[in-house]
Parts: sequence; C-alpha cells; structure tokens
Amino acid sequence: ITIDNKKNLYIEKKNIFMKNLEDYKIKNLDDFNNQRKMAANEPELFWSGIASTFQWNKKWKNTLKYDWSIPNTEWFVEGKLNITENCLDRYAKSNPDKKAIIWEANDPNEDFKVFTYKELLDEVCKFSNGLKRIGVKKGDRICIYMPMIPELTIAVLACARVGAIHSVVFAGFSSVALAARINDSSCSVIITSDGGFRGNKITPLKKICDQALKNCPTIKNCIVYKRTSEKIDWFKNRDIWWDDLISGSPDKCEPTIMNSEDTLFILYTSGSTGKPKGMVHTCGGYMVYTAYTFMNVFQYSQNDVYWCTADIGWITGHSYMVYGPLLVGATSVHFEGVPSYPDWGRFWQVCQKHKVNQFYTAPTAIRSLAKQPIDFVNKYNLSSLSVLGSVGEPINLEAWEWYYRNIGKGKLPIVDTWWQTETGGIMISSIPKVTKQKPTYATTPLPGVNAEIVDNNGNLIEESSAEGILLINFPWPSIARTIYGDHDRYKNVYFSAYKNKYFPGDGALRDENGMYRITGRVDDVVIVSGHNLGTAPIENSINEHPKVVESAVVGYPHEIKGNALMAFIILYDKTDDNESIKKEINDLISNSIGPIAKPEKVIIVSGLPKTRSGKIMRRILRKFANNDMENLGDTSTLLNPEIVNEIENTLKSLN
Ligand code: PRX
Repeated sequence: ITIDNKKNLYIEKKNIFMKNLEDYKIKNLDDFNNQRKMAANEPELFWSGIASTFQWNKKWKNTLKYDWSIPNTEWFVEGKLNITENCLDRYAKSNPDKKAIIWEANDPNEDFKVFTYKELLDEVCKFSNGLKRIGVKKGDRICIYMPMIPELTIAVLACARVGAIHSVVFAGFSSVALAARINDSSCSVIITSDGGFRGNKITPLKKICDQALKNCPTIKNCIVYKRTSEKIDWFKNRDIWWDDLISGSPDKCEPTIMNSEDTLFILYTSGSTGKPKGMVHTCGGYMVYTAYTFMNVFQYSQNDVYWCTADIGWITGHSYMVYGPLLVGATSVHFEGVPSYPDWGRFWQVCQKHKVNQFYTAPTAIRSLAKQPIDFVNKYNLSSLSVLGSVGEPINLEAWEWYYRNIGKGKLPIVDTWWQTETGGIMISSIPKVTKQKPTYATTPLPGVNAEIVDNNGNLIEESSAEGILLINFPWPSIARTIYGDHDRYKNVYFSAYKNKYFPGDGALRDENGMYRITGRVDDVVIVSGHNLGTAPIENSINEHPKVVESAVVGYPHEIKGNALMAFIILYDKTDDNESIKKEINDLISNSIGPIAKPEKVIIVSGLPKTRSGKIMRRILRKFANNDMENLGDTSTLLNPEIVNEIENTLKSLN
C-alpha cells in the first residue's frame, strides 16, 4: 500500500480499520490530503474502511466490481444490511433521547414537534408493520406523495425497513406527472395526505392522487395521512387512513435484511428528452457515501443542529435530510413551509429559534431572500450558525456575496456543493475551514471523486486551467446503478459519449489551483428555481394545444429563478386572442408537468430558425432569449434565414 501517511491514520494493518465513522472526519488539510491520496491509490481499501464502521448483517466479499462498458457498478458485493438499523436502531440504543428531527410547521403558531431517535424508530416500526399488514413485501414499489411533514420521513424509512422501494414524488407535481411516475415503476401502494400547507395555500394532494389513480392500474391501496382536515373523496376498497393502518401496530419491527446492491429507492429526474428517468439507488454504497459526505462537508459535530431547507421530494432531501444526517446520528430541522411565510424573515426566525448550526439551501432561495429588506435578517440572532451551504445550480457572485455578508457576517464558510440525483451524494465541495473556498466555485472534488475536464472533441485537458465538459472517471459508492426499466437509456445518457467515463451533462472550468466551477448544463435541461426541467417534455405539452404547429423552449438567465423559460410557438392560424392561447398553454403545462414548468414568456412567431436538415437551431433562440441579438453568429446557412429578423422584430416590439 503506497500511502504517505505518517500518522497511520487510516489503516494499521490491511483489513484492520478504524472503529467509528467519526474517525474519518476530515479535521485539517493533512487529513484531507491523506484521504484523497488513499481514495485515489487504494479506493477499495479506503471505502471498505469507512463501510466497516456501519452495522452489517454479513460482511461483503468484494468491495467493488465494475465495468463501465456495460455499464455496471457494484459496491460491497454480497454484503447484507438494512439501512434503517444504521439510521435508527444504533442510536435508539446508544442515545435514545437524542433528537433526530425537529419539525417546524408551516404556521409559526403551531407547536414544533420533536422526534428522538427512539421515538422515530418506534414510529417507523409501527408504520412498517402497517405496510406489512396490507401485504407490502421486499422489492415492491411504493409511491410517496406527501407534504413536508414528519410522516413523510417515517414513510420513507418504513419502506426501507421492510425492503420496499420508495419512489417519492415531489408534492408540487401534477396528477399527470404523478401517474406517469407511478406507472413507470408499477407502484402497488401510494402514501399521501388529505392536503398540504405551503404558505397561505393548501395543496389538495388527495384530490390530485385520485385524479392520477384513475390511470394507475397497479395501485392497490392509497394510505392517507390527515393533515389539513379538508373534505376529500373516499374509495373504500382502496383508501386507508394512516391512523387506522397503524392503530394497534406494535412498535417493534424486525428489519428486512437486504443485499448491498438491492434497490433502496427510485427517484425521478428530468431528462433532456422524453419521459423522466427513474434513477435507481442501492442500499450499501449509498449509505456509506451519504454518511461520509454529510459528516465532512457540513463538519457536523454531535451537538449541532443541522437544517436543510430542501423538500424530501428531491435528492437533496433524500441524501441530506433523511439518510445522511440520520446515519451520522445528527439532529435536523425539517420545515413544512416556505421562506416567505408569514414573512420573508421565516428562515432566520427558525434559525434563531432552533439555534441552527449548519444551514443548507439553494441559490434560488438566496436570490429571493436577497431582494427583501435586510431587516428581515437583522431582526434575528444568527450567531449559532457555523456553516452555510448551497446546492442545485451555480450560485452567482451577487447571491454568494449577499449570503456571505448578511448571513455569514463575513466570516462563515460557504460550501457550494455540486452533485446530482444520479450521483446520490455531494461530489465537489470545499470542506469548511479545511480546504479553500472561492466564490462561485464548487472548488475541490471530495476524496474518491476523480473528476476531469475534456474539450469539445473529448480530449482530456491535462493542464490545471481548463474549460470544457466535466467527467468522472472512476466509480464512487453512491452512483445510481441504472434507470428503472431502461438500462439502455442509462448507458446512452451517461456512458456513451465518453468511453468508460461517467458524463454528468455539465460544463465546467478549472482554475490554476485545480478548483472547479460548474458552468451549467450542456444538454437541453434548464434549471429553473433549482428544479431540473427538460425542455422536450414542455414542448410536447405545448404541442398538444390544437392551435399549435410547433414550439421550442429555451432557458435564459433570470434574476431570482436562476433561469426562466421562453417558449417560441408557431400557430396554425393567426388570431387576435393570443392571451387566451398563452393561458391555455400554461394550463396544459401545469397539468402535464406542474406549475414550475410554466414559461416566463410565450412568444408567437411564424417560424423557427432551422438547419437544412430541419433541426431547430436552439443556439439562436437562446441568443434571442438572452437578449444577445448582436451575436447571433452566421445565420445565412439556415433553411429560413429571414425568420431571424422577424423574431428579432417581434421581441423588440414586446420590450
Ligand atoms: O447542473 C448541475 C446542477 O444541478 C444538476 C443536478 O440537478 P438535480 O439532479 O436536480 O440535483 C440537484 C441537487 C443535487 C447538476 O447536473 N447543480 C447542482 N448543484 C450545483 C449545480 N450546478 C452548479 N453548482 C452546484 N453547486
């Protein structure tokens, strides 16, 4: 073993590892460099050392088996475990009264709730027994469509406890989008609530489910938690109240023993074409990687209170609200509401109230908050904060500086964490007070993450300073193993463009010190307010309008949302009633995807710029949307060059 490790921190002898995960905490630059070197030179030894600190029912045979030409990745092969034993039982035994979750309601006047590790385990067991009672078995797919209430976390963990595969669908999605996700993985049960509170609105979740379930033949039961007490329809052969399901349920439930590579969950993410991709994550590797990265990126210490403002419907919520923090025995705040309710001071009021130490949010939230009078921040005591985090899209300099000055008071480290639904855990980030931070840069790949940049021809750029396409050339434990039901698509999207390398779909630049900055998507995915939106599915729903011939949707920078969408549409007949067509188009999009996918602007044109082979030149439309009309480039080779002037005039007349 070639490790430059004077302190002999990581291994005493081969196969004798450190006892606790805490021993792998990166406390200084030496630790970081040692771990990085170790992970690069001896990845299997490195990750098996960390994995050994967890509770396994049977040790794995091979640490890693992979072949990215298939592509196939397996970690901790033939190891057996249940992730919930690692999240809950361990701590319920060693530290039963430690707070696992502090739940803060949408309405600040509603009492917050605390679940200790023991209480959370009991609740998870009760609900697990309920799931078993209705016949849920290992490998079944269970859809969860819930607001941010503790029962969402309980449902997720109960699925994992009985070996069922959870598929959480964000509660802002429409009934059509929900049905598509349920059907793609043939879920047998859905868990929802009557409604959900968000700010001063109520989302009628059960009603949306009822609508979706008309087209979901595989669903046998719909479990309903009562949250808003609004009136709902009831289908007595299918629907079950959450409380009835758990009534009389024992609070002990033996965990189902899983193979390391058994599926833990499916989570859908938008692709640049067609239907959403059900990313498949497995038990062992995901557990090891989310715990390790949570502990290190947030520098979590045992008495800290950590708060991630994401929704559990996204990967950030899965990895850094549920699994990562619980695996480390952390105390987390879960928040039901929105940053603007009852006013724009809510985040900071919650930080003060629960003495939050680590705060993790998204650039789109930061930009909205930065627009508000600074009094909303300054009213509150934020002295408990020690680490600030950002995730979901590139953070622009203004937002970074606002966050740093006003929330971090010019002294707190900011971790800008780059990762994806597909990567399962954080890949590139600084380590607070250990590695350097640089505004707008995610900075350094974590130990075990082998990032590289290639130019547009796929040639590796060896020099430190580089700009091009980001690739990862070696497996890490939490990489998604496939797309549910479509391994060919998995191969095509992530492993075809660059042989034996993982292609995340992002552009990046690297500075002379090796720090990475993610520049944005290089495919047709636009990130609007932190939500990944494929433009193709939006175009498909616009094209459903009987008056629409064709459409093209592109992204452009937006002050608050990061990006917004501009739709260019061609109509069969000119009409004076453009406003009602625009409204109908927005309704179509809301119904098929969700309100988050509505374009900011809909522009009616008589044609779209096309290549001679008939392909829409999105590059030109993007320039239009960016108001960058001087730099359209050569348009003479277009099939219809005259359209360029026309679109330009239309846009000018609208401004
Ligand atoms: O383009 C990158 C951007 O978000 C994409 C992944 O989106 P999703 O799967 O929804 O996961 C979001 C939460 C992990 C990436 O391909 N992205 C995410 N974090 C950053 C980022 N872009 C720049 N900087 C980041 N910190």
